[in-house]
Amino acid sequence: MALIAFASPKGGVGKTTVAAHVAALLARRGHKVIAIDLDPQNALRYHLGVPLREERSFLSRLGTHLAWRDAAVEAEAGVRVLPFGPVDPLRALEIAQMLAAQPQLLADPVREMLAVPGLIVVLDSPPGPNTALAALTPLLDLMVIVLLADGGSAAIIPQIASNRFLGRGTLATRSADRAVLVLNQVDEAEPLSEAVFEMARGALGPRLIGAICRDQLLAEALADKRMLLQGESGAGEDLQLLAEAIVKRLKLPRPGGPDGGFSALYEWGRV
Ligand SMILES: Nc1ncnc2c1ncn2[C@@H]1O[C@H](COP(=O)(O)OP(=O)(O)O)[C@@H](O)[C@H]1O
Ligand SMILES: [Mg+2]
Repeated sequence: MALIAFASPKGGVGKTTVAAHVAALLARRGHKVIAIDLDPQNALRYHLGVPLREERSFLSRLGTHLAWRDAAVEAEAGVRVLPFGPVDPLRALEIAQMLAAQPQLLADPVREMLAVPGLIVVLDSPPGPNTALAALTPLLDLMVIVLLADGGSAAIIPQIASNRFLGRGTLATRSADRAVLVLNQVDEAEPLSEAVFEMARGALGPRLIGAICRDQLLAEALADKRMLLQGESGAGEDLQLLAEAIVKRLKLPRPGGPDGGFSALYEWGRV
């Protein structure tokens, strides 16, 4: 039904943390969610609570005609996960090259997922330009670009505003509303962070879809094997607001809505 990618020109900005939380928050809202790890780091599984003994993997077995339904792992957070799988750097390169030559190896199964009614597909992309994200870009409903509120982002924000980030030409320009920005690790007490935030707000307007404060709780969540899913004050609340903004932007129907059962009867209240 909907394809949402978390991407960034840079690594270490919080893509995996934010992607995992948004996927889990959408699942809590009642949506069917499948999260695909496109990053050979294979870290999304840890965030979403895939058991360590679990050996199923998706991208690392690309080209073997492995059905995505067989590779999907039901994770603690209520999200189905397609882990990248453990790979050495050489195999990661082979996969990247395979996807450059045959993007349909990934695009075809994802198109099949998108045909499942109500299913939301969340992608955790590796940093920078990469063949996995390129294979899926034509199918994207939303590309959420994550940046830190730091000096390094200042040069990138104008590229996002002008859509050069999405490529050149009319197609990139026409795709503008599909690329939105989230600033992570915003710190009100830091003048540089505030300046970058204001710059992003000025350049992008409503395409700045979220801001997440720097929060020790979020940094420790992974080590503690838990997620901030209760709207905890601080980053927990910011992540919740981000998930809501994504729902609104994509006009995602309420799960169990008109085509999900006898909702009208439930609304009358006595069934
Ligand atoms: N808002 C935040 N406040 C504090 N620490 C954060 C925040 N967001 C992410 N982190 C920490 O930053 C590090 C990088 O996050 P990660 O999601 O792995 O980034 P990426 O996937 O972009 O490489 C992790 O240690 C994570 O816990
Ligand atoms: Mg990551």
